[in-house]
Amino acid sequence: MKIAFIGSGQVGAALADNLAKAGHDVVLAARDPGSESVRAALARQPRLTVGAPAAAVAAADVVFLATPYAANSAALAGLDLRGKVLVDCTNPVGPGLSHGLESRTSGAEAVQRLAPDARVVKAFTIYGWENFADSAYPGYGDLKPVMLLAGDDAAANVQVGTLCRELGWEPLDCGPLAHALHLEHLTLLWIKLARAQGRGPNFVWAMLRR
Ligand SMILES: NC(=O)c1ccc[n+]([C@@H]2O[C@H](COP(=O)([O-])OP(=O)(O)OC[C@H]3O[C@@H](n4cnc5c(N)ncnc54)[C@H](OP(=O)(O)O)[C@@H]3O)[C@@H](O)[C@H]2O)c1
Repeated sequence: MKIAFIGSGQVGAALADNLAKAGHDVVLAARDPGSESVRAALARQPRLTVGAPAAAVAAADVVFLATPYAANSAALAGLDLRGKVLVDCTNPVGPGLSHGLESRTSGAEAVQRLAPDARVVKAFTIYGWENFADSAYPGYGDLKPVMLLAGDDAAANVQVGTLCRELGWEPLDCGPLAHALHLEHLTLLWIKLARAQGRGPNFVWAMLRR
C-alpha cells in the first residue's frame, strides 16, 4: 500500500518506520525535505522516501497526519484529500493536560472539517510514541495490545484496522468519528498516568472478552 506521512517526528517516524518494515511504500510528505525530523526518519529507515506534500498525498492510498495539533490547519491546506483515508494521530491538548477544545468537539472532527472530502479515522493516539516504535508486550500469549480507532467510514476503519494488526495491535473499532472525543480523553488519561504520575510509557490497554 502507498502511505504518506504529514509529520515525521516522534509519532510519524515511529509509525513510518514500522509500516515500511511491514512492506508498505511509505513517503514523507515533507514541507521541508531537509528538516531535522525528516533527516532523522530517513536515517532510521532508509526505505522511506520524501516527496512534496501535494504529490505525495495524491499518490497515497492512506495519509497519516502526525503534526502538532495547532499545525493541522497549515499542514492540510491546499492538499487534495478527496476519498483518501486520513489517519488522525493528533491530539488537542490544553493547559494542565485538559482537552484542547474544552471537550466540546473532538480534534478528529475538527480535522474532518479541515479536510471534508477525506475519510478521517482517529487512531494511533491513545499511547505515547514509544509504543508505536515498539508494540511488543511479550508474555501474554496471543493477547495483543488494543488500538482504539473511530471514524464515520466503515471501510476506512477496516483498512486502518488492518494496518493496526500488521503493526502488532488488536484494532477496536469504536464507531463514529464523534467517539474520537472519548479516545482523546483516554489519551489524556494515558499521558497523566505515564508522564505526569511517572509510571513511564511502557504500558498499554488490552481487550478481554468472554
Ligand atoms: N509524542 C507522543 O507520544 C504522541 C503520542 C500520540 C499522539 N501524539 C500526537 O501526534 C502529533 C505529533 O506529535 P509528535 O510528538 O510526533 O510531534 P513532533 O515530534 O514535534 O513532530 C511534529 C512533526 O510535524 C511536522 N510539522 C510541524 N508543523 C507542520 C506544518 N505546519 N506542516 C507540516 N508539517 C509540520 C514537523 O516537521 P518539521 O521537522 O519540519 O518541523 C515534524 O515532522 C501531535 O498532535 C501529538 O499530540 C503524540
